[in-house]
Amino acid sequence: MTALKNDRFLRALLKQPVDVTPVWMMRQAGRYLPEYRASRANAGDFMSLCMNPEFACEVTMQPLDRYPQLDAAILFSDILTIPDAMGQGLYFETGEGPRFKKVISTLADIEALPIPDPHKDLGYVMDAVSTIRRELNGRVPLIGFSGSPWTLATYMVEGGSSKDFRKTKAMLYDNPQAMHLLLDKLAQSVVSYLNGQIMAGAQAVQIFDTWGGNLSAAAYQEFSLAYMRKIVSGLIREHEGRKVPVILFTKGGGLWLESIADAGADALGLDWTCDLGEARRRVGNQVALQGNMDPTVLYAKPEAIRTEVGRILASYGKGSGHVFNLGHGITPEVNPEHAGAFLRAVHELSAQYHE
Ligand code: CP3
Repeated sequence: MTALKNDRFLRALLKQPVDVTPVWMMRQAGRYLPEYRASRANAGDFMSLCMNPEFACEVTMQPLDRYPQLDAAILFSDILTIPDAMGQGLYFETGEGPRFKKVISTLADIEALPIPDPHKDLGYVMDAVSTIRRELNGRVPLIGFSGSPWTLATYMVEGGSSKDFRKTKAMLYDNPQAMHLLLDKLAQSVVSYLNGQIMAGAQAVQIFDTWGGNLSAAAYQEFSLAYMRKIVSGLIREHEGRKVPVILFTKGGGLWLESIADAGADALGLDWTCDLGEARRRVGNQVALQGNMDPTVLYAKPEAIRTEVGRILASYGKGSGHVFNLGHGITPEVNPEHAGAFLRAVHELSAQYHE
């Protein structure tokens, strides 16, 4: 076990003092990087990158090698590995996003779904985590991740991406028992998947609830947050002599921060629609915050990016408990030099907010 050379990401998630605000980017390994596109061409396609631990490790390291400012690495994989392991047959149609060969539409379909064994059915992810940890050699902490049950359910029931979640919403209101059974199976699967990642070397975990914000206030509590709370209570919270912080990211969850903060996680991810300082006042001392620059700011020039970073840092104010990030994933069209300007600005402008 190698000692961590840079632990400011883990410290900020636990609200411990740091020298500068730590930073990473959701989707930091991805198509905006020419070196990623080259690796994907070498591997053949996206799923081959995910399923080969050497390739997954290679692309995880690419943003770290390009940007020495990054304070965390994130496992290169996808949230849809779980439904694939449940037998749905995940594939990617070029330019079309994810698709499943088998779509879930009835109670019988849900009853037939197995709970994947992380070592037998998702061993390639566990191997990727341990390979990346070895390669990182203590440089920065490694983040593991999963989708939230609700977000995974939308892909499983729609058969891919969706604009209106027509089938998933109809199932939720027509047949809530079936939806609850699906979400419960997913919550069990996520607990053992994330615990497997933690035992393999993930030092923090993030749950991506990308579509939670699409629910009504009442449905969010019952069909998304309740299952994330259940997951958080089943996770291994300490490993290798350190706390393993848990981050919950509900995109569009800004109206519900108080109840999300109460779910038992260490930190909340915020999208760009909420003011960071106001969010801090609302959640008080309960959790750390991660976010929340609008990713499209990266289309602007470096000076404008720097101004926006300064505004967000000032909004949070003095003290620890903030991990800088984008409010959602970096997009393929971003100029990699703009991402570099963003990361440099966070470290340069944040020192004044720490003792
Ligand atoms: O952050 C990282 O660098 C780690 C890698 C990561 C990927 N997907 C790689 C990926 C993570 C954390 C995810 C999570 C994920 N996957 C989410 C939740 C986060 C979010 O963005 O809201 C969701 C909803 C998915 C499902 C998914 N995977 C979609 C909808 C798509 C297609 C969208 C697109 O941009 O084309 C993917 C594919 C995917 N996952 C890519 C990457 C780098 C692009 C695939 C490619 O190389 O063509």
